[in-house]
Parts: sequence; C-alpha cells; structure tokens
Amino acid sequence: MLTLDSITKSFGGAHPRGVLDKVSLALQPGEYVAVMGESGVGKSTLLNLIAGLDSPDSGRIVFDGQDVGGLTDEEATLLRRRAMGFVFQAFHVLPYLTVAQNVALPLLLNGVARRDAMVRASAMLAEVGLAGRDDSLPRELSGGETQRVAIARALVHNPRLLLADEPTGNLDADTASQILTLLRERIKHSAGSTAGLLVTHSAHAAATADRVLVLTAHGLTVPHPASQLA
Ligand SMILES: Nc1ncnc2c1ncn2[C@@H]1O[C@H](COP(=O)(O)OP(=O)(O)OP(=O)(O)O)[C@@H](O)[C@H]1O
Ligand SMILES: [Mg+2]
Repeated sequence: MLTLDSITKSFGGAHPRGVLDKVSLALQPGEYVAVMGESGVGKSTLLNLIAGLDSPDSGRIVFDGQDVGGLTDEEATLLRRRAMGFVFQAFHVLPYLTVAQNVALPLLLNGVARRDAMVRASAMLAEVGLAGRDDSLPRELSGGETQRVAIARALVHNPRLLLADEPTGNLDADTASQILTLLRERIKHSAGSTAGLLVTHSAHAAATADRVLVLTAHGLTVPHPASQLA
C-alpha cells in the first residue's frame, strides 16, 4: 500500500547537505513498522515526504497507487485529510477547542456533518480511555491524556496510514506503555485497513511494532540484533 523507491533528499541551496540517500521501503496493508535511527538522520523528513508535505529530490513514493511526489499541494492536502493520521511528539492539540472538538476535526474537514462528527469523536475518545472527557479543554489533561486525544484525532477517520513521530517521547514509562499498546491494538484491530509507521528512539517502543528498521546514511536497514534491540 506504500512503496518508497530509492528516495533521495537534500537540504540547503548552495551547499546542499544530503539527508536521505536512496531510501526504499515497502509497507503492506495493516502492517505496523517501527523506524529507529540517530537524531538528525532524517526520520521526520521521511514522514514529511510520505505525507506529501515535502517532495523528494529523486525517487518515487507510491501510496495506494498514487504517486505522492507528483501531487499538487491541494491534492496532497486532500490525500492527507482522507487517508492519513498523524501523531506528533508535541501533540499539536488545539488549546481553545474542547477534547471532542479536537478529535472531530478530521471528520469535519472531510465533510462529515457536525452532529455525526461529534458522536464519532465521543466514541473514539471512549476507545482511548477518555470517556466523559469530551468537554474538557486540553489544559485540563495530563500529558498522557493529551497524547491519547492526539491519537484519537489521528484515527477517528479510519486512515489508511498512521504516521507517529516519537508519540511517547514526553511520557513516563507506564503512560508510554499504555499509549504504545493502544496504537498497536488500533492498527491490529483495523483488520488490515490501517497501516502504521512509528518513529522512535526507544527500542522498547520499537519492539511493539511488527518489524523494526533503522534509518542510517545508507538507507533503511534491518537492525543488527545485538546493537539496536539489545
Ligand atoms: N526544512 C529543512 N530545512 C533545512 N534542513 C532541514 C529541514 N528539515 C530537516 N532538516 C535537516 O535534515 C536533517 C534531518 O532532520 P530530521 O528532522 O528528519 O531528523 P530526525 O531523524 O527526525 O531527528 P530527531 O530524531 O532528532 O527527531 C537534520 O540535519 C535537519 O537539520
Ligand atoms: Mg524527528
């Protein structure tokens, strides 16, 4: 459902600095893959390219048969809105909207009627363990609760692809563990309709995925058992 074929990306004008060099990946429907790798190696850049937020210098990204690199900004926005969900380390939950309004947002942007959107948001919040918190404001929640709101918002429209960038980076071990279990269950219970990419620095977090890849200057590789996952 997602194929990256020899993606290359550099930043900088006169003295471009290579970040991604011939990176390839094949993600099957319903598959959950973790991407590890040193800080600055290009993991977030990779997610941005997959989401069509930026374009590769060369190589092809094909998502459900569509060439993501060849889309106009407008087409890429529509593809993201319809088929992708994001969880960021810094939450990106809107502070002036209630919890349920935050979760309903992707549905409203996709044209779902407000009433239906709020009902689905409420059900989704219950699924992530936040039943009854619909009308809370984000500032009234703990870090872990806020991250669950972000996850509910990323999944409420049943995206084909979930992109999670360090979703547990700011959380204590127990809360992180709960969030990771939740992410895995949601993907695995989607009966193959949602695939996931989890970017993380934590070997423990990575081990909750179906398989682990490490991004290095030489592309995405299977980790050496003794080094990355010890
Ligand atoms: N828009 C940009 N303009 C210029 N350089 C950029 C841009 N985005 C990323 N970079 C550079 O590309 C490199 C990779 O950045 P990226 O954010 O993808 O790393 P990362 O693997 O996600 O790191 P971390 O684990 O710290 O989040 C970094 O050196 C960064 O400075
Ligand atoms: Mg990053």
